[in-house]
Amino acid sequence: MTRQILVTSALPYANGPIHLGHLVEYIQTDIFARFQRLRGHNVAYLCADDTHGTAIMIRAQKEGRTPEQLIADMTVQHQRDFAAFGLSFDHYGSTNSPANYAVASGIWAKLRAADMVVERSVERLYDPVQKTFLADRFVVGECPRCGTKEQYGDSCESCGSTYTATELKNPRSVHSGATPELRPSQQLFVRLTGLQPMLTEWTQRSGALQSEVANYLAGHFLDKPLQDWDVSRPAPYFGFEIPDAKGQYWYVWFDAPIGYIAAAKEWCERTGQSLDAWWKNPQCEVVHFLGKDITYFHTLFWPALLHVGGYQLPKRVQIHGFLRVNGEKMSKSKGTFVTAARYLEYLDAEWLRYYYASKLSNKIDDLDFQQDEFVGKVNSDLVGRVVNLASRSARFVEATGLSAHYPDDGGLFARGAAASEAIATAYEACDYREAMRLVMTLADAANEYVEKRAPWTLKKDPARAQELQDVCTVVLNLFHQIVVYLQPVLPALAARGAALLGSRGDRWELAQTRLVGGKVAKFEHLMARVELDKVQAMFVPEAAVPVAPVAPAPTPTITPAATAVGTGDAGDALSKEPLASEIGIDEFQKVDLRIAKVIAAEAVPDAKKLLRLTLSLGSGPTRNVFAGIKSAYEPEQLVGRLVVMVANLAPRKMKFGLSEGMVIAAGTDGEVFLLSPDAGARPGQRLH
Ligand code: MSP
Ligand code: ZN
Repeated sequence: MTRQILVTSALPYANGPIHLGHLVEYIQTDIFARFQRLRGHNVAYLCADDTHGTAIMIRAQKEGRTPEQLIADMTVQHQRDFAAFGLSFDHYGSTNSPANYAVASGIWAKLRAADMVVERSVERLYDPVQKTFLADRFVVGECPRCGTKEQYGDSCESCGSTYTATELKNPRSVHSGATPELRPSQQLFVRLTGLQPMLTEWTQRSGALQSEVANYLAGHFLDKPLQDWDVSRPAPYFGFEIPDAKGQYWYVWFDAPIGYIAAAKEWCERTGQSLDAWWKNPQCEVVHFLGKDITYFHTLFWPALLHVGGYQLPKRVQIHGFLRVNGEKMSKSKGTFVTAARYLEYLDAEWLRYYYASKLSNKIDDLDFQQDEFVGKVNSDLVGRVVNLASRSARFVEATGLSAHYPDDGGLFARGAAASEAIATAYEACDYREAMRLVMTLADAANEYVEKRAPWTLKKDPARAQELQDVCTVVLNLFHQIVVYLQPVLPALAARGAALLGSRGDRWELAQTRLVGGKVAKFEHLMARVELDKVQAMFVPEAAVPVAPVAPAPTPTITPAATAVGTGDAGDALSKEPLASEIGIDEFQKVDLRIAKVIAAEAVPDAKKLLRLTLSLGSGPTRNVFAGIKSAYEPEQLVGRLVVMVANLAPRKMKFGLSEGMVIAAGTDGEVFLLSPDAGARPGQRLH
């Protein structure tokens, strides 16, 4: 039966970059989404930037721009990072969107109608000069616990204690310097006690939560009447003004989770589907992934809002622990706070995907990044046990292809096929560690077979050519089976591995299919080994990095369709670069050319010829592409225009970052001509 599964990751705050900690969650969710798609289910994987609140407002103010400009910039960065890690969002939205305002307003109206909104007066700090209430972060003073000066109204950076703004000693307003006064403010609260029986039932008995989480909620919140939830903030606040309460804004945590529904709404509108067929359909499974720090918002407030709004409650809330590095919290000064962008300067995205997968279980324990373990897992599991299967066999059958009949393999393939359900069960439970362990057991058996049959020895004896072909056929089939099982974790490796054997590798059932008689492509490098010194260099604090982080860049490329020389006469260009040898339509169709829209363009410092383009295919993550067109185009002139890109080119790591595709142009250097479609073409359309 085809399942319908709506999957989300928590929405990252727009006020900071994506880092290795976030990636524990996003990679984990992406593996789940990819696994479900591989099994043939109907999946929507949705996410968005979480844009509201005072932190964004303050940062924008400091940087002299509007919050809107700041969040526009951040979403481009976030989506660029996510794309580089292979995250397969079906839609990526923003909480500062009309869709989110519409859904939030709808839920708010239902809360009002259910008489769940109450107004109460709360004493808050007020700036008598600016005549505004002050959010916690707009008040500074001395820490009430340790006396450190210049601390914000919510917590002390020196002793780490948290308190309310009214406890600060010698407080003053950040806006005017005036001493704040206490004034009563009318605040809006959502009353949750009426939903307590429903929430108790759902958290304790629906099976949606891990048992540790259910117990935590029972012991800390549900054992007494739930408190009313303060959902309004006085101006100035970057957020949505509450429709029926002028001057009051929804607190960021009110409209943040609603962003999940808004993302679904936008996606449904874009793809001609109905939102209700997803979020109001009892057959649809809503699965949220998030970190343990935000458990409470997602397991009490959020189901309350969903319930009142008439939306499906989550089928599952999958909670994970925090990333630590060498046993400690990530820290900027120690260099262990590593951003996604920095990671990519040193290491391959798929290494991290595998490393996390090999460590993630269904528990909420923290996860520790250990450098030696990382190197060991990548080099001995991935390269040593998996990639090596292909590298030790494919070359020997490049000329002959696979045997016409599947040879006797002593039951190895059947054993791998029989492991299918156990591996699937582990993926389904988000026990990826177990899934990886099962797959590596299969790899071990395959490697034993290679060792025993030693194709490199058979190769020396022409009389044993058939045996050689048979042995390699077995090994490559076992390799293919393993690669299909690993596809959710390692989509790029799986695509390369499957392509070697002319398979698409994109259906779980392919692990049951023996490949015979087919061609074997020329063996190309599938995955490099990781070097410990690269990992170590990545963890050196930024300021102290001694040398340039990566190997010299490969020559930047755009592929000229033809070379325009001198006069630009077509005949000239043709003689300068003669036609390539003939190909069949099949070969042409392997190249996926798409219309793409340039959403950002910038010069790359230190690169004479390159512009960095952010391209949109209309949906899905944006692509980061380096194009050698700097001499011919100004970045500003490109933003908004359509171009043609090779959209299925394997991503390439360059000195300046990852290039995820190639823009098509005619000409070279000074004479480069980008192609444009006629009016009416839309981003994402394929060229046939
Ligand atoms: N904006 C809120 C979520 C709103 S969801 C409606 C938020 N953003 S966040 O950027 O701080 O975190 C996004 C997700 O990443 C959260 O699920 C959080 O738990 C997770 N992680 C952030 N830092 C992390 C680690 N160091 N380790 C593991 N996960 C981490 O919370
Ligand atoms: Zn303090």
